[in-house]
Amino acid sequence: MSENQKKHIAILGSTGSIGTQALEVIAANSDRFQVEVLTAHSNADLLAEQALKFKANAVVIHDESKYKALKDRLFDEGIKVFCGRDALAEVVEMETIDLVLTALVGFAGLKPTMRAIAAGKQIALANKETLVVAGELITKAAREKGVNIYPVDSEHSAIFQCLSGEFHNPIEKIYLTASGGPFRGMSLQDLKSVTPAQALKHPNWDMGAKITIDSASMMNKGLEVIEAKWLFGLKPEQIDIVVHPQSIIHSIVQFEDGSMKAQMGLPDMKLPIQYALGYPERIKSDFPRFDFMKYPQLTFEKPDYKAFRNLQFAFDAMQKGGNAPCVLNAANEIAVKEFLAGNIGFLAMSDLIEDCLQNVTYIAQPRLENYFETDSETRAYASSKISSL
Ligand SMILES: NC(=O)c1ccc[n+]([C@@H]2O[C@H](COP(=O)([O-])OP(=O)(O)OC[C@H]3O[C@@H](n4cnc5c(N)ncnc54)[C@H](OP(=O)(O)O)[C@@H]3O)[C@@H](O)[C@H]2O)c1
Repeated sequence: MSENQKKHIAILGSTGSIGTQALEVIAANSDRFQVEVLTAHSNADLLAEQALKFKANAVVIHDESKYKALKDRLFDEGIKVFCGRDALAEVVEMETIDLVLTALVGFAGLKPTMRAIAAGKQIALANKETLVVAGELITKAAREKGVNIYPVDSEHSAIFQCLSGEFHNPIEKIYLTASGGPFRGMSLQDLKSVTPAQALKHPNWDMGAKITIDSASMMNKGLEVIEAKWLFGLKPEQIDIVVHPQSIIHSIVQFEDGSMKAQMGLPDMKLPIQYALGYPERIKSDFPRFDFMKYPQLTFEKPDYKAFRNLQFAFDAMQKGGNAPCVLNAANEIAVKEFLAGNIGFLAMSDLIEDCLQNVTYIAQPRLENYFETDSETRAYASSKISSL
């Protein structure tokens, strides 16, 4: 493939779990992909190493205190260095970029994703929080601009893969599978005393801290339900969750004739990342293959909505619509941060989210700027409640 035919990629959050795995995929397929832009929050050392290795055109570091040292290291190599929040949103508009992989965490993804879509860039979306917060605006903007949003989340990639060749066949229902996380089977009483260290030990996936806590509290599945609604144009009653502790079946589509298609494979994020970057091609890989004999039993359970209250909050926020999912997301981001810092207990995360959903100003038809206001209001409200939890 000539340099011009390669897909030129920006990775927002290249130093994280998804970002580093995406770079492994790119390194293994350097004949197809070229790195244009890499970004990080504050890990300037890794960002510099990555930029030099992949000959990036530009990097963005969010933390302005790291800017000078990074610039000194990369400038002579011909790599442009930018810093700050605005730079992240501006850099995605670079003419040379074909596709933006949104692998940063949280609400911070909203602005650059909107700007990338407005600039007509294809999106590989890992940053589910953006779709949770502003799914209606994002998907509308993408339709208007003819931008495809390729899901990176393994469950949504599974649904996307199952829909291949089914363009004219409506979805009856989807089942998102959930591992159940490290606390599967625990009662509310058991969950009272679990610690951040225990919550950070996911049985099947090695991921960033925020999504690992979200998996332990099942908020991750709740966010994924809302993400699925927007990605696949579903009604809430068309989305169900099934707990599948082995994480082999990544999700299932049920069609109107009753037939179900599931996508399966070992739990390895490189596969959905590669599918999103390489779509529509299935690029030959040497990822380990699934062996049926090592998994003689694939099992399924109902989620426990009583012990994992976040699941119900997510369904409720999706039903309510407007800015409610934005409140849910911001409250959860604060809850996770405070839980990780040891300031609140595991169950207090759900109490805080419930409180925010009940008390933050509701907006039925938010515009883009309203999401920023709602995010700030929720963070301020949630932070003011921490000492009383
Ligand atoms: N990890 C997975 O297996 C997985 C699976 C499915 C979906 N996802 C989704 O993918 C996204 C990334 O998850 P992750 O596990 O890769 O997270 P992660 O390991 O924590 O990495 C986050 C990345 O974003 C950067 N970042 C963090 N906060 C930022 C901010 N405010 N502004 C700009 N950049 C920021 C980080 O930079 P520094 O390194 O400098 O902090 C890092 O590069 C999340 O939305 C998650 O839900 C992840």
